[in-house]
Amino acid sequence: MIVPASDQWIARAAAALRRGELVAFPTETVYGLGADATNGLAVAAIFELKGRPHFNPLIVHVGDAGMAERYGVLSNTAKRLAQAFWPGALTLVVAKREDGGIADLTTAGLETIALRVPDHGVAQALLDKTGMPIAAPSANRSGHVSPTLAQHVEDDLGDGPAMILDGGATARGIESTVIDTTTERPALLRPGAVPREAIEDVLGMALVSATAEGKPASPGQLDSHYAPRAKLRLDAKGINAGEALLAFGPDEPTGASLVVNLSPSGNLREAAANLFRALRKLDSSGADVVAVMPIAEEGLGEAINDRLRKAAARPEQS
Ligand code: TXA
Ligand code: MG
Repeated sequence: MIVPASDQWIARAAAALRRGELVAFPTETVYGLGADATNGLAVAAIFELKGRPHFNPLIVHVGDAGMAERYGVLSNTAKRLAQAFWPGALTLVVAKREDGGIADLTTAGLETIALRVPDHGVAQALLDKTGMPIAAPSANRSGHVSPTLAQHVEDDLGDGPAMILDGGATARGIESTVIDTTTERPALLRPGAVPREAIEDVLGMALVSATAEGKPASPGQLDSHYAPRAKLRLDAKGINAGEALLAFGPDEPTGASLVVNLSPSGNLREAAANLFRALRKLDSSGADVVAVMPIAEEGLGEAINDRLRKAAARPEQS
């Protein structure tokens, strides 16, 4: 439902976000599909509604640089860029604060977090009213172009969001530029609305290109994935000696050294919200092999299985 971005509707949108519902809202770049970034179930609903076949880390929107410091540790480079470009269409990848309360699914289990202060009155009002960090990818179905009008959001997502706040056409029309400030030299991960040259002028140095480093062109796809140390054995029907178990659903095989169940009731949204925490817990138990029960390849199951397959296929590390 498209609604005007009036004070009254913004208050209702804020209440919906607090309840863990999704709200589409305008930013200066494109419309975002927002959820409480501290609520794993709400963030799982974003992936579900977008129909994304994989989990990639989401941008967390905050009201100002002070709020950003609650969720991330900004290096001097990050602070200079924040000072120069926030509020605005620049997203900074920084070290994640473990005590910040951001859901694991929001950052796809990574130890870094992407933060941005949007330069839009409606986005700012939502952040102000909720006081919460808002995770928001572009509000389109996976594989479709990003929406620059409320109507585009409705065409793609229908009644999926609790509401779509109409702020007219977005000013910039392309996504924010994403810069990784956690590497020795800052890297351009995604070109966007702030040109590379403007950022290089502020820093007085050239940005490293993610592709020039042999990394994938689209970040968050391959090497920036959280990967467990333990080996994963997928599609396990039983347990071998010494194995830990990543379970799903009510019927757990017995005999595992440790069991973590993604969702005893077999709910895929709950499983997605628990996935990265579960992998970390199993990994830190010291088990060399984690048996993974089959998970249906439907809805969010596709993204869950994608991540599990990537973790299982990864070469051994010493
Ligand atoms: O303009 C925008 O940035 C829009 C509006 C709604 O703000 N948002 C947006 O969000 O495009 P999203 O979540 O679709 O963009 C995420 C981008 C991806 O390229 C992702 O790989 C990268 O940011 N990213 C997020 N967290 C990351 C991290 N911890 N490390 C590396 N890249 C990260
Ligand atoms: Mg997008």
